[in-house]
Amino acid sequence: MRPARALIDLDALRHNYRLAREVSGARALAVVKADAYGHGAVRCAQALEGEADGFAVACIEEALVLREAGVRAPILLLEGFFEADELTLIDQHDLWCVAHAQWQIEAIEQAQLSKPLTVWLKLDSGMHRVGLHPADYQAAYRRLLASGKVSKIVLMSHFARADEPECERTSEQLAVFLQAREGLSAEVSLRNSPAVLGWPQVPSDWVRPGIMLYGATPFEQAQEHAALLRPVMTLESKVISVRELPAGEPVGYGARFVAERPTRVGVVAMGYADGYPRHAPTGTPVMVDGQLTRLIGRVSMDMLTVDLTDLPQSGLGSRVELWGKQVLASDVAAAAGSIPYQIFCNLRRVPLHYLGN
Ligand SMILES: Cc1ncc(COP(=O)(O)O)c(C=O)c1O
Repeated sequence: MRPARALIDLDALRHNYRLAREVSGARALAVVKADAYGHGAVRCAQALEGEADGFAVACIEEALVLREAGVRAPILLLEGFFEADELTLIDQHDLWCVAHAQWQIEAIEQAQLSKPLTVWLKLDSGMHRVGLHPADYQAAYRRLLASGKVSKIVLMSHFARADEPECERTSEQLAVFLQAREGLSAEVSLRNSPAVLGWPQVPSDWVRPGIMLYGATPFEQAQEHAALLRPVMTLESKVISVRELPAGEPVGYGARFVAERPTRVGVVAMGYADGYPRHAPTGTPVMVDGQLTRLIGRVSMDMLTVDLTDLPQSGLGSRVELWGKQVLASDVAAAAGSIPYQIFCNLRRVPLHYLGN
């Protein structure tokens, strides 16, 4: 069997979820969209279900996978519905939905429902992706209330730059939100992971942690609360071949690495077809038998190469951690010009093994 695999530590996931709740003092929807950022949405949701206040996914397809697996907790559709007829399924499966556009308000008004819905009314406070314009927000709220189709409205917005601690844009977005919701007495949800960890002054009855659940920091710099996160995924494999190269010999496609000295090269069963970033350059950190070394040469589809020159005890069969508790996914991502969100979501082909219940 090919030794490439990802270990998913469910105790670490629960630890990170509890941290989100403790730091924010709010109820938390665990964001498990995109297959829980590559960690397996069903298993992650099941591991959290006893304690999570609910879950958030991008769309109804993702929600139905959780319902079919027996997840009964509230599930919020972060992008709401794409067609009005999805409201029937939303009703049938007891889903909560975001409304971010006028046409969705109208569709809710006209829907035939068996019971009133929980709607999270999204304001565009400055990210300019989705959400109602501030000038339309109160009218939309009143229309929903008057429709008789809604039992609860949560007021929400999303930050564009909460991962930049010094940036004023988050305070500006907050001010837009506070003004738009003036006089409305409804619960509020504003904070994603960076806002949970770094913006305690932002009010929230509900928070929406995603990346922090998986133990990766959304910040580029060290941050007090992010330091308490525990990485959930360990991507690992083994050395499957060793080469001794004299100085001057190249390694791999494009000869992107040429040995400057006699070099022991370990070939690892892991490549970009598994989701390891192809753009990770020579020097990207990697652990072999618990010792730090570096990636060398180009990452290929099924294999990559590491420097074993200073690790004489390591060789065929040595365990390799590509990212996990020792090599942080955020460091690998940064080296490859990416972010941990993307490298987790890109994971494929490798089997997931779950640790803890
Ligand atoms: C509306 C909304 N809330 C929360 C999240 C979770 O964000 P993060 O992973 O940064 O915590 C996302 C993710 O993109 C989102 O779109």
